[in-house]
Amino acid sequence: MAIREAVLTLRGKETYDGAGVRLLRVFGHAEAGRFDPFLLLDAFGSDDPALYLPGFPMHPHRGIETVTYLLEGSVRHGDSLGSGGLIGPGDLQWMSAGSGIIHEEMPQESPRGVHGLQLWVNLPGKEKMRQPAYRGASAAEVPVVPTGSGSVRVLAGEWGGARGPVVGVARSPSYLDVSLDPGAAITLDAPYGRTAFFYVLEGAASTGSSPDARGAGDCVLLGHGDEVRLVAGPLGARLVIAHAPPIGEPIAWGGPIVMNTRAELDQAFRELDEGTFIRRRS
Ligand code: FE2
Repeated sequence: MAIREAVLTLRGKETYDGAGVRLLRVFGHAEAGRFDPFLLLDAFGSDDPALYLPGFPMHPHRGIETVTYLLEGSVRHGDSLGSGGLIGPGDLQWMSAGSGIIHEEMPQESPRGVHGLQLWVNLPGKEKMRQPAYRGASAAEVPVVPTGSGSVRVLAGEWGGARGPVVGVARSPSYLDVSLDPGAAITLDAPYGRTAFFYVLEGAASTGSSPDARGAGDCVLLGHGDEVRLVAGPLGARLVIAHAPPIGEPIAWGGPIVMNTRAELDQAFRELDEGTFIRRRS
């Protein structure tokens, strides 16, 4: 057994995306490749409606999966597959853009604001042009495993005998929402060869052999090993942790479209101009 140590700690950078939604970009283009197969993590939202109501109007994606985990408030969504509806706290959306999808994500006015996470998972070249797919899971479908000194919500992958509701996605990631009581410790499997990171939502936690606590808004990329050890601070901790095998292919990144080559990006934007971006379903 080898405990993974922290190799990089990032703080989200405040930015605005979509039509003017405040968010913290935790990692993204600037770190391209370091979190492979994860491309981007945004902590979006605000308590101020002016900073979330503009939303993310219709925009395309190709070559990636976008994973939205809503923590607070509600978001109305709709896409070119005909999927649509309202998601609420604890709900999960796993959208495999594949060859192309056009969608919108519009936060609704909510008493406690709108807060959530959006994670992008890259697709390997041979799956970038596969048929798009939308999968939604309500909070009630996400298993919650008590640990004795906290709980683990299993968003994807398996933990403690429970299996997350989203299966059949490209990189078979593990994605867990971990809550720890003050001072509580937990050890999680994160097998060799997989890229692993965690992002602190509330409180603070230390990891590996370091006594230094990471607080809310910190993202930690973990080094080699097969286990992650987390110890909550005096106020407890809530964090998400994800791991998946890297893809190891070139990344050609054009905003919401991520391919392997510049030529593939050019083709995608040409198809958007020509109105041929969305493939007909056979
Ligand atoms: Fe999107």
